[in-house]
Amino acid sequence: MNTQPRRVEHQQTDRGYIPVYTTGVVEQPWAEYTRTDHEVWAQLFRRQRETLKNRATREFLENQERFGMSADAIPKFDDLNAVLKKGTGWEIVGVEGLLPDQVFFDHLANRRFPVTWWIRKPEQLDYISEPDLFHDLFGHVPLLLNPVFADYIQAYGKGGVKAHGIGADALMNLTRLYWYTVEFGLINTPQGLRIYGSGIVSSKGESIYCLESDAPNRIGFDLERIMRTRYKIDTYQQTYFVIDSFEQLMEATEPDFRPIYERLAKLDSFPAGEIQPSDRVIHRGTREGWIETPDT
Ligand SMILES: [Fe+2]
Repeated sequence: MNTQPRRVEHQQTDRGYIPVYTTGVVEQPWAEYTRTDHEVWAQLFRRQRETLKNRATREFLENQERFGMSADAIPKFDDLNAVLKKGTGWEIVGVEGLLPDQVFFDHLANRRFPVTWWIRKPEQLDYISEPDLFHDLFGHVPLLLNPVFADYIQAYGKGGVKAHGIGADALMNLTRLYWYTVEFGLINTPQGLRIYGSGIVSSKGESIYCLESDAPNRIGFDLERIMRTRYKIDTYQQTYFVIDSFEQLMEATEPDFRPIYERLAKLDSFPAGEIQPSDRVIHRGTREGWIETPDT
């Protein structure tokens, strides 16, 4: 079967004409990046490499080097794919922005990671509300070279395809799992807590806050606890979940989630910032400086 998506046409978008495929995949218009785009990449790259020393997990930093990512220019997806395909059989595909759940899950289930092709503007260095190239590429791509983490993301994608057929509650449970692991996860290492979540590594402020602030809770990974926990989309997280290893994540996805979804559907969700009696508390947050906005 020909699995290559069909190229439809060049389509006018907010950011000019780009080739569009039926699966929402676009070609990275690398030649179109401006000097400003490359400068934004360079500034963010240098700043985060510095911030993440002794804060991000070693694999994350080393894998960026294996990819040859540098401040010199926005990486070409084709160059990254040459390394990635050989490493774990994954590939990245360019997209215009967030995809419908089902399309996103289908990409992950087939070891394709969607990466937004455009990069934020200079005035958005510290915050952007939607994922851009810096978040996706700098943040997500490095750990796709880790074989266990790469399998976990695929398992998550397959779980998503299944959850889609089950219902909205199941999807919510799964979204929380992604949020508190892939996006905002911490990992315990012999050197201390380290960051592996992409939402954190692409934010200078949260890279420091998640490890060094007394305000947030840090508690041990627990699949069902996470699936019940609401989260913050407009502030730093109030709770971070800490894994002991990527193997622990992978093992957690082995059971069939259907009975878990059924059980959780009868239970209340937990507020983002509340400690529960059964939690393995690594640090109880002081809640200092929390702005009480509604959880998602
Ligand atoms: Fe992300």
